[in-house]
Amino acid sequence: MIVVASANGKIGIPAAMEILRAGGSALDAVEAATRIVEDNPDDHTVGYGGYPNLLGEVELDASIMDGRTLRAGAVGALKGYRHPISVARKVMEELPHVLLVGEGAARFAAEMGFQAENLLTDEAATVYRQGISGALPPDKARDWLSGGIDRNLARLARLTTDPERAAGTVNFIAKDREGNIAVAVSTSGWAWKYPGRLGDSPVIGAGNYADNRYGACACTGWGELALRCGTAHAVVLYQRLGFGLEQACRQAMHDLAYVAEDPARAIMNLIAINRDGRPIGMTTVPGRTYVWMTDDLDAPVEEPRVVIDLTRVKR
Ligand code: GLY
Repeated sequence: MIVVASANGKIGIPAAMEILRAGGSALDAVEAATRIVEDNPDDHTVGYGGYPNLLGEVELDASIMDGRTLRAGAVGALKGYRHPISVARKVMEELPHVLLVGEGAARFAAEMGFQAENLLTDEAATVYRQGISGALPPDKARDWLSGGIDRNLARLARLTTDPERAAGTVNFIAKDREGNIAVAVSTSGWAWKYPGRLGDSPVIGAGNYADNRYGACACTGWGELALRCGTAHAVVLYQRLGFGLEQACRQAMHDLAYVAEDPARAIMNLIAINRDGRPIGMTTVPGRTYVWMTDDLDAPVEEPRVVIDLTRVKR
């Protein structure tokens, strides 16, 4: 049994492992672990305390996939509910659909009994105001701040592309006692994004994919890249085609070089396992880590991700 996560998922790993050790399912383990990160107000890339969109509204995206059945559920641009991962799971279990967004997702969350609340913390609101003010063109700042922001969202979306705030997300992959694999992904998305923007996290195949027969993958980073390459599914598909785990991940990362406007600045991180549960983490940014824990260990292991330099990939 194993649980693998992006580094910000370390706080959720013990709870996930406890579930697996008690004979619980990989699906229960990844959902429980994700909820812990969604509750963490200090993680500004996920759930409660996440950075808002250009209008100052927190919009959350999440997805969950069951590698045993290939069933999946996802929500995008969900406002007012701190556990999008649990709403995504309900989509998978209660609806004949995979993905709900916006008002429909919020309506469904309410119908399923989730409690609505304000997710914008004072800290996130302060950073948002500073981020927006800092990005405004000086000659337009006064006009835009006094009511003009909503008439200039498209221009602002191009100006507020802080790479460090664009790319956060949490990933969990688990393999349980029965050998079943599940993946969960949750994010508040690109900070100061255009309202309604979805990245890779709620899109099955882009930010999340699991198939017991071959393995699983989940992504953090610039969702726009993983969306265009179907990165999580690519990792699983390359394994299906006979690539080893590391080679499959390298190939999926190399694919990104074709869509990255500037490969030197492209941010993509993935975690993956093969069907035997062997883990790997990969990134375009030197120094990034990922975490994993098998059932014979007392604590999670944090180790460096394999670094891929997209500037060296022939396009
Ligand atoms: N990877 C998260 C996002 O782009 O929204």
